[in-house]
Amino acid sequence: MTLTRLHEMADRDEKIAMLTCYDATFAKLMEHAGVDILLVGDSLGMVLQGAENTLNVSMHHMTYHTKSVAAGAPNALIIADMPVGSYEHDNEAAYKNALWLIRSGAQMVKFEGGGDRVQTARYLIDRGIPVCAHLGFTPQSVNQLGGYKIQGKTEESAHQITQDAIDMSNAGVSLIVLEMVPATLAKHITESIKALTIGIGAGVDCDGQVLVIQDLLGIYNGAASKQPHEFKAPRFVKNFLCETNSVKQAVSNYVNAVKSKTFPTPEHSY
Ligand code: KIV
Repeated sequence: MTLTRLHEMADRDEKIAMLTCYDATFAKLMEHAGVDILLVGDSLGMVLQGAENTLNVSMHHMTYHTKSVAAGAPNALIIADMPVGSYEHDNEAAYKNALWLIRSGAQMVKFEGGGDRVQTARYLIDRGIPVCAHLGFTPQSVNQLGGYKIQGKTEESAHQITQDAIDMSNAGVSLIVLEMVPATLAKHITESIKALTIGIGAGVDCDGQVLVIQDLLGIYNGAASKQPHEFKAPRFVKNFLCETNSVKQAVSNYVNAVKSKTFPTPEHSY
């Protein structure tokens, strides 16, 4: 999988199927099930480490899991998240950390936010590192955003997210993850920019979709410190395992649902 192929897919309106992945076994399974992009997400802080959020994830965690995923899926396009604290302060540190992820086996790095982050994206891209932006609900800012809340509902916030997407696209980012924004806003952004959009809780009109693998399998039920009954899965989550008794088939059904535009439905969107 290459960026050129992703653009060819978007040109012929073929949707991109992306999933989070943290180890070699799942990486191999996903590559063979036709997943286009594997995201080594810092969601690993929640789904692997049991934390309440992604704020304790380090560069060591990210490089360890990126190496494992790259070992299992030598042909996949792998994106690695830059964890909180690894890119915000100065561009040279961001570059060194991004390079560490690339040397661990990623082809692209992802980080959260617009505004000042646009110049960080430009700095990395000018030095040959492909970048995926992440706008809308940005989990590393969960405390600032006051919890897991849909973004872009007011005119002002919708305008800010659109402008950030335009600026990131003009800076040369390849992909933009749009998380928990109204489907109409995601559609408008997708139609307005050159970068490809990947939605999670952003409606069916993005260029592709991403889910956390544990959510797709219906096995995530909240932080380790909480009781399972206290957890309510977000609206955009769909359990693909309950329709089959095979993990590989569940992943493959997700890929088919994304490609046939039957996932996400309006019930999975805002
Ligand atoms: O860390 C992650 O898994 C992500 C996805 C939710 C897009 O950023």
